[in-house]
Amino acid sequence: MLESPTTEAGATAAPAPGLAEEVLVLDFGGQYSQLIARRIRECGVFAEMLPATASVEAIRERQPKGLVLSGGPASVYEEGAPAFPQALLELDVPILGICYGMQVMVQALGGRVEAAESGEFGRTDLVLRDGGGKLLAGLPEEQHCWMSHRDAVFEPPAGFAALASSPGSPVAACENPERGLYGIQFHPEVVHTPYGTEILTRFVRDVAGCEQEWSPQSVIAEQVAKVQAQVGEGRVICGLSGGVDSSVAALLVHKAVGEKLTCVFVDHGLMRLNEAEQVVAAFQQFGIPLVHVDAEERFLARLAGVDEPERKRKIIGEEFIRVFEEEAAKLEDAAYLVQGTLYSDVIESGGSDHAATIKSHHNVGGLPEDLEFELVEPLRMLFKDEVRAVGAELGLPDRMVWRQPFPGPGLAIRIVGGEVTRERLDILRAADAILQEEIRAAELYRQLWQSFCVLPVVRSVGVQGDGRTYAYPIVIRAVTSDDAMTADWARLPYDLLERVSNRVINEISGVNRVALDISSKPPATIEWE
Ligand code: XMP
Repeated sequence: MLESPTTEAGATAAPAPGLAEEVLVLDFGGQYSQLIARRIRECGVFAEMLPATASVEAIRERQPKGLVLSGGPASVYEEGAPAFPQALLELDVPILGICYGMQVMVQALGGRVEAAESGEFGRTDLVLRDGGGKLLAGLPEEQHCWMSHRDAVFEPPAGFAALASSPGSPVAACENPERGLYGIQFHPEVVHTPYGTEILTRFVRDVAGCEQEWSPQSVIAEQVAKVQAQVGEGRVICGLSGGVDSSVAALLVHKAVGEKLTCVFVDHGLMRLNEAEQVVAAFQQFGIPLVHVDAEERFLARLAGVDEPERKRKIIGEEFIRVFEEEAAKLEDAAYLVQGTLYSDVIESGGSDHAATIKSHHNVGGLPEDLEFELVEPLRMLFKDEVRAVGAELGLPDRMVWRQPFPGPGLAIRIVGGEVTRERLDILRAADAILQEEIRAAELYRQLWQSFCVLPVVRSVGVQGDGRTYAYPIVIRAVTSDDAMTADWARLPYDLLERVSNRVINEISGVNRVALDISSKPPATIEWE
């Protein structure tokens, strides 16, 4: 009924010395480029993405053990199509071209790439030739793979062996092991290519000779050393939101600098039931110095009479900064600020060479740029699932490791079309707690990107016992998504919906109706405000 949960970053157990080896993914603009890096990391090798236009000097400096050329939307014979960086051949590093990456390499080396009679999109049958060569040896002679292309390789360059074909790709894979050059037309990084991970492992381990030491443990060892080198004896401050990113960043930095880290948790009173207590308890358990600022009154006072969504967000953002600054000022000698910036934020803001930017959507409204701190960003190279794996390794409770995203302005933007009051917050919090409890009991929590309740400020008529009621509705919103850019409404089981509806109406006075939001994004958004 629901999609299966995303895989966690798999990892080898060896405690690795740090970043001894890496594979670079040169991005030609393909929709799966990030996924290639993620999958290679799942093979136990650190991988990072660089634009295909990165200078060969920059690549040489990194001393990668292997290079992967990603797919991309262009046709190799079109004017202006990204070219094969010939100078890569001088690096003497094995190269794996995927889709466009293969075509552009093949064409540059004298092979023949042309538009095929029809494109191949989606699941495709692949047949190996001559045992599959070095790259595909040992895999089933016939298998499925995932294709997404219109052009195809008709002849490999001289010195290359053709390893496989599909109905629309005469040469669906080719290699020249002496020169360390490999190409595949299909996408090994998507789950619909069943042997994709084997093929990537073959490339990084057997071709590129990587030791497969990248793991949550190696990330921890490496980042602890890095933070220690950056911070020295300095004092560090970290704003906690209760989300997995800031929690894991704080735990890592605490491991590195111990008591020199102070966490500040601004409790705006807009969290879900018991969430603030959970954050405080978890950090107390780790012995991390924590300033818990109970600022509910301040926030509610400023939100009084406000019903316009952007005004709510702005007020909460401003107040958050004010409270945070007051607390930061009390820690006079703190010179460093921890941010839970992730690799996806780094890529969005222009790649790893880009100057550190404060993640504006991470905290409520973001922190002001004139806060005079040097940033510490221990998650800067990690994907979300890797952050979770590191959090679990550091002992963060499961409940926090797997917490669904929660917006900085909290429940305030889920009281829709009206003022945020304590009464409405209490109703919404109680309804949300019932929904969470039932979704967890049905073991659906991790499969959903988000699940929550919304309280529209309207009242409708109902009947309970012998009397009429005039009360709020509660809307259930549950979505599946990979990245929140698009989302589908979750097909929750009817019996689960029935239980939630009965409990919400029976247990919470002030609610007499439960509705289900069946809108996808786009055109709707995930949140209602
Ligand atoms: P929408 O509603 O735009 O949300 O589809 C996309 C994702 O962003 C979250 N979200 C926010 N997060 N501050 C945040 O920290 C905000 O103001 C905010 N608004 C939306 C939302 O929960 C979803 O995961």
